Parts: sequence; C-alpha cells; structure tokens
Amino acid sequence: MSDDSKLGVGVIGLGEIGQFHLRGFASSSECEIRAVSDIDAALAEETASRFGASSYTSYQDLLSDPAIAIVSIGLPHRLHCEVLLAAIAAGKQVLCEKPLCMTVGECDEVIDAAARANVTVGVQHNQLFYPPHVRAKELVDSGSIGRPVLMRLRLAIGGKFRGWRTDPAVTGGGILFDAGVHRFYVARYLLGEVDEVMAMADNTRLGGEDVAVVGLRFRSGALGVIEANYHAPPGSFDDNVEICGTEGTLYVSGCEAEFEGFRTGPRLTRFDGSWHYEKTAQGDWADSVAASIRAFVTAVARGEEAPVTAKDGRQVVQLIESVYDAISAP
Ligand SMILES: NC(=O)c1ccc[n+]([C@@H]2O[C@H](COP(=O)([O-])OP(=O)(O)OC[C@H]3O[C@@H](n4cnc5c(N)ncnc54)[C@H](O)[C@@H]3O)[C@@H](O)[C@H]2O)c1
Repeated sequence: MSDDSKLGVGVIGLGEIGQFHLRGFASSSECEIRAVSDIDAALAEETASRFGASSYTSYQDLLSDPAIAIVSIGLPHRLHCEVLLAAIAAGKQVLCEKPLCMTVGECDEVIDAAARANVTVGVQHNQLFYPPHVRAKELVDSGSIGRPVLMRLRLAIGGKFRGWRTDPAVTGGGILFDAGVHRFYVARYLLGEVDEVMAMADNTRLGGEDVAVVGLRFRSGALGVIEANYHAPPGSFDDNVEICGTEGTLYVSGCEAEFEGFRTGPRLTRFDGSWHYEKTAQGDWADSVAASIRAFVTAVARGEEAPVTAKDGRQVVQLIESVYDAISAP
C-alpha cells in the first residue's frame, strides 16, 4: 500500500548513480519510491523488487504512471534533454544528473518548457552538499583566508571510464564534460562568477579530451586552475581543492578521493602560519548525493525553487562550452 501523504518517486536509469539516487530518496521521509525504469529489464525488475516499486523498461511508461510526482534522471548525457522534456510534458517535477544537458540551447529548451508547465527542475550538483565544501565556503566568505587569490582544482583519474562515457557524441565531450563538471560548479560556489577562461587539452570537444588544463578568471579578480586527466596511476582518484588567500590557504583533500579510499586524514585544513584542522559535519560523497536529493524533495514538497536550479545547471554548461571554445588542441 502506498502512503498518500508522500510524494511518489520514479527513478529513471539504474546504473552507477541511479543506485545512489534510490538510496537518497529512500532516506527522505517526504517521499516514497514507487517506480523505476531501465532498458535493462533484469536490472529494472531486481531494483523494483527491493523497493516494492513498479518496473518499466520504457521511461515513457513510467512517466504515464499517475502515482509518480517526482522523477530523477541518471542516464547518459545525450538522453538528458529528451527525457527532461518528456517528464516536464507529463507534469512531473524533475531532478536531473549533471550536466543538465549537452548544450546551452538544450538547457534553454528545458528552462522554457519547465516555466510554461510550472514544473520544478533541479540539477544534481551533489558536491555542494559535501560538508568540507560547505565549511570551505563559510571560511572563504568570513574572510578567514583573507582575499582569495588563486584556486586549484585537481582531477586525476586512474583510467578512462568505459561504455557510453568513451563516446563524445553521447557524453558531450571528454573528461571536462563528465567528472570535470563537478570542478566547475564547485569553483563557482567557492569563489563566484567566472568572467574569462583559457584552456589547453590533448583533443577537442568532439574528439573527447583526456587531459586538460583550464585557466579561470573570477569576477572577484581571483584566478583559478582546473587540471583534469585520465592518466593517473591505475586505481587512483584524486580531486583535491586548494584556495590561496592573502592571509591563509585552504586545502580540501578530495570528495570522491575520500569515498574511493584514495585519500585519508583531515578532510579540510587551513594554514595561516600554523595548521588548523577544520571540523566539518559528518557525511561523505554518497551522503552528499542523498542530502542533495532530500533537499530537492523538500523544495518540491514546499512548492519552493530547487536548491540547484536549471538556470544554475545552464550556467555550468555555458561555462564549459566557453572552455571548449577556448581550447587549443593539436
Ligand atoms: N553526481 C555524481 O557524482 C555522478 C557519478 C556518476 C555518474 N553521474 C551522472 O549520472 C548519469 C548516469 O551515469 P552512470 O555512471 O550512472 O551511467 P551508467 O551507465 O552506470 O547507468 C546508466 C543507466 O541508464 C540505463 N539506460 C540507458 N538508456 C536508457 C533509457 N532510454 N531508458 C532507461 N534507462 C536507460 C542503462 O541501462 C544504465 O543502467 C550521467 O549524467 C553521469 O554524468 C553523476
């Protein structure tokens, strides 16, 4: 028996991130997982049986289910726009994985359709809910490192993702448009708007870059560097963040690095002549996914704007598009 006081949830795409979406929705007292969808019928049925949910191989059939108020999308990037538009047309509230869409044009279509249908669209920028990032922002905003001057965001993955993620036509690019997306929204969250970019990579967007160095100029005057590559030692995953200010430096040892077991020890440190090991709330990468999902559900339940809006998602896609335009590749 479903609980009518709760929002019905349908999860579309039950692969790596879809399983964490299920965990996130299951942790909310305001919703209930009622349906799942994946083109892999066995995966859909096995997942549905764990939650007492309906199983669909067609996402269109899930969208026709009147028991569903919220859908989440954890699909290959090329499908985001199509499924978002179909979900909006069906009157569902939608939480979509990063990146919102493949292009700014697609983002605009989604934003317009959602406004016309009066539907909430949120984007899963989960690392905004990672406690060391939240604490780092508090420290930056309170002036504890003085004026931020330079930020470095490192992404070093020990081996290329497989499957659809190797195809730039499905991913929308290479490492920058995949795991790289988190660096861009974390950079904007911590130091604000970016006005200028420069970039070098081993390949163009269409060729799917494996290695890239991106320079950022923030509106505040601070500079930033995003370095991303798939050629780190096999099995490693490094995503640390460093912000140098006029009075001190902050180090976040890495959200996914911690989850992957690659980095241990203090998660957030500050140096201003002596070392400070900053206290942060509990919660790892997986908890950041769950917290982000709960925040979206609460916003829908209260009729409020999504914690990360489609416009936020668009700004990140636009920023990465400007990086691709700036790339000089051999
Ligand atoms: N927030 C994060 O940290 C994070 C981590 C991993 C992936 N992601 C994002 O999640 C999304 C999915 O990535 P993933 O790694 O989970 O991929 P995945 O390949 O593990 O899973 C995708 C699933 O979608 C299913 N699928 C494909 N076409 C479908 C269709 N038409 N209808 C229903 N199901 C279909 C596949 O069978 C597969 O089970 C991407 O946007 C990716 O960028 C985010």
